[in-house]
Amino acid sequence: MKRVKAIYPGSFDPPTNGHLDLIQRGSKIFDELVVAILRNPDKDPLFSVADRRKMLEAMTADFDNVSVDTFDGLTVEYALKVEAQAILRGIRAVSDYEYELQMALMNRKLQPSLETVFMMPAEKFSYLSSRLVREVAKLGGAIDCLVPGLVAQKVREKMDVAHKFENGDPPADQSSEGRGKRKKR
Ligand code: PNS
Repeated sequence: MKRVKAIYPGSFDPPTNGHLDLIQRGSKIFDELVVAILRNPDKDPLFSVADRRKMLEAMTADFDNVSVDTFDGLTVEYALKVEAQAILRGIRAVSDYEYELQMALMNRKLQPSLETVFMMPAEKFSYLSSRLVREVAKLGGAIDCLVPGLVAQKVREKMDVAHKFENGDPPADQSSEGRGKRKKR
């Protein structure tokens, strides 16, 4: 019988309840699902790739058919490397559609054998994005219902570090990747 493997690529900075909702849905329709974190040297992320990987691994520990990996370069090249047949992406609202359509069609042009599968997260997550989580947390708002508990804790720790940094008290172990103080995107 044919088994279908999909990758779910993204930045996941940080992973949200919306991402988890999509992973849950994807794990039901695909035999195997790889959550693939892009290692993007152009970005100045809140969390290092290693931190994001740990958070996603903890969030997906109960799903037998879900694994977490990292990649760089083209998504389609990574999909081929891990022998996936599909790329899973979430569409929350009409505003996502144009960008996602463009990306799906470009990926199809690059690699016609791969299918992009769109799924909608639960409506209650339709407004939720990693960018807004970062912004709300930075401005002191509650993020507990937006991200899993372990992620909320990690974000709070990051914001505490950033706050101390802004007050002229830089922590000794801040590396350039995943530091608390970040550029907006
Ligand atoms: O969570 P995001 O930031 O919306 O994810 C975007 C992502 C990682 C899926 C996209 O930027 C991507 O696929 N990047 C890898 C480089 C690539 O393949 N670019 C061509 C896509 S058309």
